Formats: sequence, structure tokens, C-alpha cells
Amino acid sequence: MKQKEYALVKQISMEDHVYQQESVASLFDHMSKTYGIANYMCSFGFIERWRHACIQYLPTKSLQGHGVDLMSGGGELWDSIAKKMTDQGSLTAIDLSNEMNQKAIQNKQKHKFPIQLLDEDVLNPQLIKPNSLEFIVSSFGLKTFSIDQQQQLASNINRWLKPGGSFSFIEMTTPTSRLLKFLYMFYLRYVISFGGWLFTGDKSSYSMLGKYILLFGQGDHFLQALQKEGLVLTKHRLFFGCATCYSGYKKDL
Ligand SMILES: C[S@@+](CC[C@H](N)C(=O)[O-])C[C@H]1O[C@@H](n2cnc3c(N)ncnc32)[C@H](O)[C@@H]1O
Repeated sequence: MKQKEYALVKQISMEDHVYQQESVASLFDHMSKTYGIANYMCSFGFIERWRHACIQYLPTKSLQGHGVDLMSGGGELWDSIAKKMTDQGSLTAIDLSNEMNQKAIQNKQKHKFPIQLLDEDVLNPQLIKPNSLEFIVSSFGLKTFSIDQQQQLASNINRWLKPGGSFSFIEMTTPTSRLLKFLYMFYLRYVISFGGWLFTGDKSSYSMLGKYILLFGQGDHFLQALQKEGLVLTKHRLFFGCATCYSGYKKDL
């Protein structure tokens, strides 16, 4: 990691409150109205393809039984989920931002499959019964977790999945190529904040998102956390590592 990058990571890591649920919830409450369009424009449309890839990488061909969408936001993943969902499938969507959940309530009307919304913290292990889920999916919600919280989440995933149940998580990550990394840093520092300013008049919330992405890095801690839980795992790098999908399943007994 370069010196400038390291300084930023060190500075933000010391501000422990950025990983507290209240801070994260209020950040997304604040961004909720513009989140969809700002993200789409700032990612040059890639974000939609990446959500679709997240569902495509789920090891199961079709979605049957009950599953969850963690850090579900306004339900941005549901169009992609709908393509794999069968008549036997249902979904619980979990998010702790009130405002994002309000958007999800409106979005829910568009979909035919049953969706239950929970305004909860996904780090709470009591939230869902052990060994009860066929699948777990999640898009772009990992970056606001500290390393310890990533381990806690991995442990919940393992606890909640039925044996043989599958999962797929996607997050924006820093690419390994030097040229791309340079462009990506430029993007994180300037394009996201400019987009935020353009759409909301608020530079700081969107630049905060860039900082979270930088801290999440290439997602190695999350990968190791899933491996530590004994989950069978494949890592998929998308667009030279600008996003990474972690998909796999819990071993059958
Ligand atoms: C970047 S948004 C992603 C939303 C959506 N999945 C998408 O594809 O755009 C991250 C979401 O995670 C939620 N979130 C973050 N930490 C959470 C936690 N501990 N429990 C539940 N939701 C959380 C935030 O409120 C926010 O809505």
C-alpha cells in the first residue's frame, strides 16, 4: 500500500465510530434519496452488471426455499434475484437504515415473489434461526464492516445456512494493476465526491463511501473470515478487480 493510501487508511481506522451501526445507518439515511442514481452514474453503469453477476455466481441455478438479502438497501438486488426466483422461493431483506427501508417498501410492490423486510442489524446472531436458510446474497454492503465485524458476519452466514445452502456477496474492491489502481484512487477521491456534490450538494457522505471502499481493499479479510468458518468458497474478480464476488456454499453433512 502506498504511503498516501496508508495514511488515509490509518487515519480512518483510528476513527472507530465509522464502523458503529449508528454512524452507518445515519450515513445511508442521509444518502437514501440519491443513492441509486448517484451510484449508477459514478460507476458508469457497472454497478447494475455487478449486482447481476452476484446472483449469477450463486452456485444454485434457481432460488427455491427461503433466503436473505443482507444490507438490502432499497432492494437494488431484487431485479436480478427475480430472474432466478421460483414459485417456491421467498426472501427476507435486512437493513438498518430506516430511509433505505422506506425505498425498499416501495420497490417491493414491483416484485411478485414474497419479500419480508426487517429493520435490523445483520451482526445480531439471534436474528435468524440456525441452519434455516437455502441462500444468502448481498451487494455492496460489506465495506462498512471492520475486520472483526467481517468475521462476525462470516460466522452468522455459517450459522444461518442449511448444510448445502449457498451464498454470494459482492463488493467494490481495489484493483491490483498499478495503472488501474491509480485511476481507481482518482475515482475514489474525486469522481465519487464530485458525483455526491452534483446529486446531493453533499460531498462528504459520498467521499466517505470512497474511504470505506479503500479500507475494504481487496477484501482479503472477508475471504479469510469465510474460509475460517469452513465455507467452500470461490473468489471472482470483476473488471480487473474493481469489484469482487465471494460465492460458495456450506458443506453438506
Ligand atoms: C451500499 S448500500 C447497499 C445497498 C444495496 N444492497 C445495493 O446493492 O445497492 C449498504 C447498505 O447496508 C446497510 N447496512 C450497513 N451495515 C448494516 C448492518 N450492520 N445491518 C444491516 N444493514 C446494514 C446500509 O444501511 C445500506 O443500506
